[in-house]
Amino acid sequence: MSKENFSKLFKERLIKDLSEEQIDIVLSGQYGKALELLRDAEATGLFPALVGPPGVGKTILCRYFASLRAKENKNKGFYWLTMDESIKPSNFIGSFDPAITLQKGFVLEAFNSGPLLNAMLEGGTFLANEINRATEYSQNTLLEPLEEASIGIPHLGRIKADKDFFFICAMNPEELSGTHRLSEALKDRIKIWIQLTYPEKSTELDIIRINLPEHFEIEESELEIIYSIIEETRKNKIDIEVPASVRAGIAIAKLLGRRRLLEKEKKVKEKESVYVYLSEIARYVLLGSIKPKPGVKVDNIIESIIHKTLGA
Ligand SMILES: Nc1ncnc2c1ncn2[C@@H]1O[C@H](COP(=O)(O)OP(=O)(O)OP(=O)(O)O)[C@@H](O)[C@H]1O
Ligand SMILES: [Mg+2]
Repeated sequence: MSKENFSKLFKERLIKDLSEEQIDIVLSGQYGKALELLRDAEATGLFPALVGPPGVGKTILCRYFASLRAKENKNKGFYWLTMDESIKPSNFIGSFDPAITLQKGFVLEAFNSGPLLNAMLEGGTFLANEINRATEYSQNTLLEPLEEASIGIPHLGRIKADKDFFFICAMNPEELSGTHRLSEALKDRIKIWIQLTYPEKSTELDIIRINLPEHFEIEESELEIIYSIIEETRKNKIDIEVPASVRAGIAIAKLLGRRRLLEKEKKVKEKESVYVYLSEIARYVLLGSIKPKPGVKVDNIIESIIHKTLGA
């Protein structure tokens, strides 16, 4: 890609106004309640955590909440950082540009501000995504901002956060593998624990519908079957460590919707039955959407789920 093209496309696609971002979110059931709690947290200055397994809607809820704040607070930004072991304090705060620092020393001009510092300066929202994957060393970067609403920048000094600065974190439950524990000091500074889980049926069906492109039509009875496949992965706690998330249902529905469209446009031959086609696409989607317990073969689980929900 040429430099000009890159710069043109970049400017076109830059999200400038968070409050105008269109977020299609379902707010029934647990999501409405969770949003209310986020508003309570904001009003009382207590920092919240969203806790739940992958794909239950933690990030979309945070984005939606941040976009509401942006509307009310005249476009104060939303910043986020997804953590893992490689995240360093400089990823939160920012760092000095080596070339400029070499010329001019550790001056403000040489400093590239990071997402946490940006949110503190602007009074925006900072989301620490997957916070329990960060090492304790990195988690400690958050202690001062959360307790004193200030932060020290090496060589430059200490800044006080804008009064509207708000912090949210999201994490998978600690018993899932691949996560560090949250340090006790940080845990003590997070005061509202909002649990999200797999949504109830009517909410999940609404989520699938809202995520389907408009021109994709699938029947209610087909949606029901898709839900039953997803639900089955959540019932089998003996073989499955992480069941299918909301994303899996959306993916199956999209593939079915596309198939229906092609049939309508007479671009493909009609299949014998929805069961045949669904059992095919469910296999493609489920293969990477469920995590079996150690020693259990994912193929066997998928076969048994398909057999149960769609027949032989
Ligand atoms: N309430 C909802 N309304 C609309 N779409 C939703 C809702 N909840 C989840 N989704 C959809 O489900 C998918 C997963 O949601 P999201 O990315 O927010 O999950 P998450 O909990 O942050 O997952 P992870 O732990 O993997 O980061 C997204 O495509 C999102 O659009
Ligand atoms: Mg997420």
